[in-house]
Amino acid sequence: MGKDVIIALDFPGARETFNFLDKFTSRKPFVKIGMELFYLEGPYIVRELKARGHKIFLDLKLHDIPNTVKGGMRSLRNLGVDMVNVHSAGGIEMMRAALEGLTREDGTRPLLIAVTQLTSISQEKLTNELLINAPIEDVVIHYARNVFAAGLDGVVCSPLEAGKIHEHLGEKFLTITPGIRFAGDSVGDQARITDPRRAKELGSDYIVVGRPITKAQAPVEIYERCVKEFCEGD
Ligand code: C5P
Repeated sequence: MGKDVIIALDFPGARETFNFLDKFTSRKPFVKIGMELFYLEGPYIVRELKARGHKIFLDLKLHDIPNTVKGGMRSLRNLGVDMVNVHSAGGIEMMRAALEGLTREDGTRPLLIAVTQLTSISQEKLTNELLINAPIEDVVIHYARNVFAAGLDGVVCSPLEAGKIHEHLGEKFLTITPGIRFAGDSVGDQARITDPRRAKELGSDYIVVGRPITKAQAPVEIYERCVKEFCEGD
């Protein structure tokens, strides 16, 4: 796996998802299935998209006691996805349990990534709502260290934090970064954003792009622009 653009398929159902993906004729994008789609359609949607040739990031952000997360991951491990995730706020023991549950009998497993802080959380929310009294950058690095200590493959974070995370935890530790917007795009509920070119400069390994592609008049064009700017650096 290398640098790639992952499209967030935040659609209400399988029909809308297939209609959207049918537009991509020359290249099968790496896609992210989130809770909206998975809770409605279940494993069927994963198998179907896999059969159509897509790589899949199953973004369910597991966060529970270690034993429950281990069981959840055991249920997911044979779906054939390429990447799954947990919330690092669940702690190191929970992340180790996730890794254990995800590992198949032959020792293989999908990549396991953890969310540090959601890109919708601003410093103001962190301090006043969550009562975490530290600069958001320090919290993200601290959580990323926990993820590394637990033996996971990388983190979901803002592109603005990718460089610092690589600096602290090495180039091989993956950074998967949502919060991607082009100049002029609506920001929506994202707080810490940047464009694909800048995300690449900042050292992000994968960008996750949702609404800028899924809500576009010409989604394939916007996807190709992301690939060009992020993967090819033009
Ligand atoms: O539409 P947009 O580009 O904002 O979509 C970003 C996607 O990335 C959404 O599916 C969202 O759930 C996901 N995500 C995120 N921030 C995180 C983790 C995942 O925005 N920290």
